[in-house]
Amino acid sequence: MSPSVASGNRTYSIASIPADGIGPEVISAGITVLSALTETLKTFNLDFTNYDWSSETYKKTGKYIPDGGLEDLKKHDAIFFGAVGAPDVPDHISLWGLRLAICQTFQQYANVRPTRVFRGTESPLRNCKHGDLDWVIVRENSEGEYAGQGGRSHIGKPWEVATEVAIFSRHGVERIMRFAFETAQKRPRKLLTVVTKSNAQRNGLVLWDEVAQAVAKEFPDVTMDKMLVDAMTTRMVLKPESLDTIVATNLHADILSDLAASLAGSIGIAPTSNLDPTREYPSMFEPIHGSAFDITGMGISNPVATFWTAAEMLAWLGEADASKKLLDCVEAVCERGILTRDLGGQATTVQVTEAVVAEIQKLATQ
Ligand SMILES: NC(=O)c1ccc[n+]([C@@H]2O[C@H](COP(=O)([O-])OP(=O)(O)OC[C@H]3O[C@@H](n4cnc5c(N)ncnc54)[C@H](O)[C@@H]3O)[C@@H](O)[C@H]2O)c1
Repeated sequence: MSPSVASGNRTYSIASIPADGIGPEVISAGITVLSALTETLKTFNLDFTNYDWSSETYKKTGKYIPDGGLEDLKKHDAIFFGAVGAPDVPDHISLWGLRLAICQTFQQYANVRPTRVFRGTESPLRNCKHGDLDWVIVRENSEGEYAGQGGRSHIGKPWEVATEVAIFSRHGVERIMRFAFETAQKRPRKLLTVVTKSNAQRNGLVLWDEVAQAVAKEFPDVTMDKMLVDAMTTRMVLKPESLDTIVATNLHADILSDLAASLAGSIGIAPTSNLDPTREYPSMFEPIHGSAFDITGMGISNPVATFWTAAEMLAWLGEADASKKLLDCVEAVCERGILTRDLGGQATTVQVTEAVVAEIQKLATQ
């Protein structure tokens, strides 16, 4: 859908899917902050449509997404997603029923996960300060180990077998490598680390390496290096300043990005974008974290991941200035020590949200 233009300002249509656990808490906080931003800046509008697709819906109807739901969703400019997963629904049902159903149908093949240490927050790494850890992880988001290929036979028998087949197509690898090189090229250091495991996985990951080498020729200004995934964990912990943009397979990047978020202070600050770079379909923006059953309803979930996610969404929609302003406001609040417990503070979700709103409102006088 093209953004509509009303009263001189563009209006973007946003589908919000809060879903499960702390998803509704953080998405509500995100909408509060985004509304404050549009009211203050008055340069564009956001029109939210809420979709109550969740594990509760699944338990009532047998479906996460109703018939025709994806056609409805396609009409929006972007999707603002919370988290899916409930204690009484198997995780593979919830993940494939909602999140992966959207990512895969909408060919959101590039999953982008920026990480850095915000001013006012601390890395658990000794000597790692603000500026030392500033990465973008690009995760292949459509195939690899999460392609959904495989099966089970002789279920329940002692001779039962199950296969989970990792798929690497030249088309799929080429497009994610090109996206990763473009991402690295736009950043000051122009440095891309390709994560692999081609020593052990001698088919798919050898193709992965070969395609990376071939695509690298199109980007002579980007320096590329290669790391085995196991050695990569060591480098992330011991030499965080040596990394910048990172590309990895669906599974590898899924794991590495949780490590990255923790090294930056908490999973509660990490955003992710599921992008369809062709822009045929809307892209989906969500915090990296899951439903966090252990803190649901306690009012202590960190909304910063969702605020950063919201800033990423604005940048993708073309509102780069608003995106930067939002992130600056969030960082200013962190710097003032208004932090939730996961970052060592005492503030509640609402207190952090109110502080960010107050910071945004100051923009009107600047
Ligand atoms: N994208 C998604 O929707 C997504 C991602 C990961 C996990 N999940 C699902 O979420 C459920 C729980 O998974 P999990 O426990 O492995 O991961 P999780 O991210 O939900 O929680 C891991 C830990 O991090 C903490 N945490 C997470 N987000 C936080 C926040 N915003 N503020 C403060 N603390 C936070 C939690 O309290 C918990 O201790 C499962 O059903 C899983 O399948 C969904």
